[in-house]
Amino acid sequence: MLLSKKLIIALDGPAASGKGTLGRRLAAHYNLALLDTGALYRAVGWNVIQKGGNPSNVIDALEALKDLSNIDLSNKELRSESIGTAASQVAALPTIRHALVDFQRTFANNPPPNKNGTILDGRDIGTVICPDTPFKIFITADVEIRAKRRFLEEFGNDENAKEYKKILNKLRDRDKRDTSRASSPLKQAKNAHLIDTSYSDIEAVFDAAIKFVSSKM
Ligand code: C5P
Repeated sequence: MLLSKKLIIALDGPAASGKGTLGRRLAAHYNLALLDTGALYRAVGWNVIQKGGNPSNVIDALEALKDLSNIDLSNKELRSESIGTAASQVAALPTIRHALVDFQRTFANNPPPNKNGTILDGRDIGTVICPDTPFKIFITADVEIRAKRRFLEEFGNDENAKEYKKILNKLRDRDKRDTSRASSPLKQAKNAHLIDTSYSDIEAVFDAAIKFVSSKM
């Protein structure tokens, strides 16, 4: 499929709401370049921990940011809930957010020639990074359902109520930090289309998303 105008999709929502899966499906469907912006913050948080620093300390986070281009964003270690916590700590620092804005906007506005556009998933894509795109989706789900999804990713089908509770508490803390920080907090943009994934499978979520995108074309 070739579109006459470049498309920029902003996909925001809390942790484990299904952004990654939906983002990949939309990228394949519309032939878009995809940027998982959470991976940038995860890489910085992970690097702070590697260096024995404190993710809430701006000096430590700035030091870790210097290595960003050398960090493998597909490293599985970055995906754990503990690194999610470190990511949300560095993401609450305005200096770190500010330093990552240009990279994200340049990606959004410069798709490779063989692509129809870009899709970025994160927390502030519709509100701060790409406020002018009409293609904004905000996805969410009940926090207990999100914790179950994250638990399954990390522990498979093991019955482990203690680990589940730990993940649930970490997600609650992360939601609180992400929504209450002063700099670019997680919130639904006014013109974003809301999709609740709590009781829907990926096909239903994907259908709702493409229906919305088509309605805006
Ligand atoms: O999406 P993911 O769970 O990988 O994001 C990790 C953390 O990075 C989030 O909890 C959030 O604090 C931060 N983040 C952000 N802004 C983005 C993407 C991620 O603050 N655009």
